[in-house]
Amino acid sequence: MTFADGGGGENVRLATYVPRVPKPTTVFVCSACATESAKWHGQCPGCGAWNALAEETRTAPNGRAPSRRAARPVRLAEVQAERHDRLSTGIGELDRILGGGIVPGSLVLIGGSPGIGKSTLTSMALGNLQGAGRRTLYVSGEESAAQIRLRAERLPGAALEVPVLAETDLDTVLATLDAERPEVCVVDSVQTLHAADLTSAAGSVGQVREVADRITRLAKARNIAVLLVGHVTKEGALAGPRVLEHLVDCVLQFEGERERTYRTLRALKNRFGSTNDVGVFEMRQGGLVEVADASARFVGEATRAPGSVVLAAMEGSRPLLVEVQALVSPSELVPPRRVANGIDRNRLALVLAVLGRHAGVGVGSADVFVNVAGGVRVDEPGADLAVALAVASAARGVALGGGESPVACFGEVGLTGELRSVGHPDRRLAEARKFGLSPVIAPGEATATLRQALKVALGGRQARAA
Ligand SMILES: Nc1ncnc2c1ncn2[C@@H]1O[C@H](COP(=O)(O)OP(=O)(O)OP(=O)(O)O)[C@@H](O)[C@H]1O
Ligand SMILES: [Mg+2]
Repeated sequence: MTFADGGGGENVRLATYVPRVPKPTTVFVCSACATESAKWHGQCPGCGAWNALAEETRTAPNGRAPSRRAARPVRLAEVQAERHDRLSTGIGELDRILGGGIVPGSLVLIGGSPGIGKSTLTSMALGNLQGAGRRTLYVSGEESAAQIRLRAERLPGAALEVPVLAETDLDTVLATLDAERPEVCVVDSVQTLHAADLTSAAGSVGQVREVADRITRLAKARNIAVLLVGHVTKEGALAGPRVLEHLVDCVLQFEGERERTYRTLRALKNRFGSTNDVGVFEMRQGGLVEVADASARFVGEATRAPGSVVLAAMEGSRPLLVEVQALVSPSELVPPRRVANGIDRNRLALVLAVLGRHAGVGVGSADVFVNVAGGVRVDEPGADLAVALAVASAARGVALGGGESPVACFGEVGLTGELRSVGHPDRRLAEARKFGLSPVIAPGEATATLRQALKVALGGRQARAA
């Protein structure tokens, strides 16, 4: 078959005509680690996750040679850097964790499990910013405008004045952002937006990456600060690829248990501030309320019963007193139950083993439950001693320190039964003293081993003069 090229010139065989259309290819992308592979695998070759590979269609690059023009590097001193004041969200704890407010043009990813209060927190921040005369925009792909209004009605500030856009199409969102040019925008959530030119479903790795990438580019070009809300998976990682974490300037994690009132907000990454701080909030009818003095609350609520001890923990650079409770009860199960809420299960197993082997407190076939009160999560070795004391006190049925006032402690338990020092002992001690907790049981000369610490705590004698 042939065809004429109009002018009656030479004929071209259609069979040899190659269209210059980029060819779509199919790749399989892991939804946990974003590893790409040409074939589908049951187990991701990158991170070993099972059943995590999802198909994605890609358009191959159109084969044009890349530009080879050299660019001129600039000396840093010659770079024009405008100084922008940070935008205060009016929520003290949030500002503190961001490093003093939102940096204009920055991208903040806020992750958290369902119902934890991400939409509430971001709505409150936008309401305060709007009230302070900033231009804001709330983009929601999850809820209708009516639902957002209902939430805003119970929030303080100018939450009802915030313009909202209930939309899931990425191009519409980007065009609106470009037209409205807000100073601060919330996108709730990154997993619900959908780029029409990608075939994969909203929330898939490719979509999430594309959505975040295009929003980032527009936000940087137009100097729009964006708070991106992201869902987390059951395991606690941000759903979708970790690549999102590299893309943004700041990653905040909103934690806590939905049924509990306390929630903690911490920075996992911050290009403009430290990642050491943590904020404590409480969910109330009027929205999230900052708990400025969380230690006072937790100490006030602490029981003086057997099985209770106050842990002088460090949440980043901030000392926090939390109550650790234990219950030891006879079990009919083999093996017996070991339940840990708010602490690592493996740490509990380690502490129980050391208690039995080196401190004469065997819980053998009993069920052991350990709980950090208030739904707080403590991820530091300094919690070991609190777990050990709480379990020993529960097992013996004896209140620590004679049950008069709560006993505070901190320290790491070593495998040979020794107590090891942990970071910031002075700040922990100062915080415990502030609330009249004395003595404080901590690694020291008279309490070098877990056995000695137990003797001091259960005997009610004075601990190391700390
Ligand atoms: N009137 C109220 N008083 C107290 N708490 C409330 C009230 N209304 C809702 N809540 C709490 O607010 C939480 C929901 O908050 P929010 O919608 O901000 O969460 P989210 O993290 O955005 O959830 P999702 O992942 O579903 O988007 C619920 O856990 C609920 O307990
Ligand atoms: Mg929400």
